[in-house]
Amino acid sequence: MARDSFAGKICLVTGAARGIGGAIARAFTEEGAQVVMTDVLGPELDDHANSLGQIGVHHDVADEQGWRDLIKMIEDRFGRLDILVNNAGYGWLKNITEIALEDWRRLMAVNVDGVFLGMKHAIPLMARGGGGAIVNMSSMYGTVGNAGTAAYCASKGAVTMMTKAVALECAEAGNGIRVNSIHPGYVRTPSVAETLTTEQIDVLRALHPMDRLADPMEIARSTLFLASSDASFMTGAELHVDGGFTAR
Ligand SMILES: NC(=O)c1ccc[n+]([C@@H]2O[C@H](COP(=O)([O-])OP(=O)(O)OC[C@H]3O[C@@H](n4cnc5c(N)ncnc54)[C@H](O)[C@@H]3O)[C@@H](O)[C@H]2O)c1
Repeated sequence: MARDSFAGKICLVTGAARGIGGAIARAFTEEGAQVVMTDVLGPELDDHANSLGQIGVHHDVADEQGWRDLIKMIEDRFGRLDILVNNAGYGWLKNITEIALEDWRRLMAVNVDGVFLGMKHAIPLMARGGGGAIVNMSSMYGTVGNAGTAAYCASKGAVTMMTKAVALECAEAGNGIRVNSIHPGYVRTPSVAETLTTEQIDVLRALHPMDRLADPMEIARSTLFLASSDASFMTGAELHVDGGFTAR
């Protein structure tokens, strides 16, 4: 049996100007959803949202008042929210002894506070509409360690565990909201392509038993699955989409 269509569903995707979030916004659009796309990259967001015929909102996920305004806008305009994808995030390479506290705090503000604030402010509206699905973007580095990415690993580990705790809160509340995390391996996105040389990307490719990086659409399709009724008995789960990276 084919899964339900997303026609008429209201979906919010953070970090949607490009990369994985951009692909997720495209995938939900192709499935008929109304997508609200947010990002800090104003012009890129506007271009992508316009090309998809969707709404772009300039918003930093670390800004709590911005979350209040965003959720109110969605309630006023659509009256409901069915799907939240907390995708915005970033990382850098630095050993623990080299990390400046302000850089650590900014990374945590985006990767961890952003996911916390998204769920805090979206859940009441989703619950009033009868439930829905939250997908939080973690990483393979939210379950295994990696030298040089202590801050990123700590932030994605927090996303992994926050997802499970909130999944249990929602199940206990009986509000109909499922909460799961996705754990991509390395994905060919601007953040990877812009910061790494071809030789470095070859090294990353070899880390994956499937001997390649993911295409952003492969992560987007996994997001659709978790948000769909095909995943109706999944909550608090980690979905690894990593070409076998964490299987060994
Ligand atoms: N690319 C990978 O290999 C990979 C692997 C595992 C997990 N991830 C995760 O997937 C998510 C998307 O990564 P990507 O590779 O597409 O990165 P990307 O840099 O290509 O895209 C991320 C988007 O998020 C936006 N963003 C960053 N900070 C923001 C903020 N404070 N508020 C709102 N938007 C913000 C950026 O402007 C950008 O448009 C991130 O959470 C990342 O950690 C990526």
